[in-house]
Amino acid sequence: MTRTKPRGLFIVFEGIDGSGKTTQARRLLRRLRRRGRRAVFFREPTRGRWGREIRRLARRADSLTPKEELELFVKDRRENVARNLEPALAAGRDVVLDRYYFSTIAYQGAKGLDPGRIRRLNESFAIPPDLVIVLDVEAAAGLARIAGRGSRDELFEREDYLVRVARLFRAFAGPAVVHVDGRGEPRAIARAIWAEVEPLI
Ligand code: TYD
Repeated sequence: MTRTKPRGLFIVFEGIDGSGKTTQARRLLRRLRRRGRRAVFFREPTRGRWGREIRRLARRADSLTPKEELELFVKDRRENVARNLEPALAAGRDVVLDRYYFSTIAYQGAKGLDPGRIRRLNESFAIPPDLVIVLDVEAAAGLARIAGRGSRDELFEREDYLVRVARLFRAFAGPAVVHVDGRGEPRAIARAIWAEVEPLI
């Protein structure tokens, strides 16, 4: 009799810039490992060729149309799914992923692209996560945490955009989606996240 190896758990962190998701993703990764689970961490944009291209272009303001941005994020994601996520999950590893296609729905959706279309495009190839943790914070709070970048005008423009992004994140719903209040103490937030993860392992 052949036994198929159990797949690992696939957990995604989402939220606006400054929501604290990277800190929480790394905390969860450590906790899973302490529990003896083989867990790996990935992020999007990735460190692959498309991810590097995205970061390079992001440093130049308005160098891409929203549609071009969408295409690059999707290329990067296709590569991430095929090269990183699928092999790790198939080998029984848990995957903690910092941003996934919910970011594309929120960020490129906030630039005027149709969120429903972005979702369908991504769900045609993306592996469905077991859990999507959305850290909800106000745009102003997120901006305060990443303050120090850019001029005042840029910050105002950014706040306006991030308010729309935050609204789209807040509206996410689905069987695997949980919203966690991103305000407050990192340890308390980590506890709330663990309460969602523990029943799955
Ligand atoms: P971020 O998580 O901040 O990565 P890093 O800290 O390594 O730079 O992501 C970079 C930016 O990319 C962030 O502002 C959100 C944006 N983004 C999108 O606009 N669409 C997407 O699909 C993804 C994954 C990210």
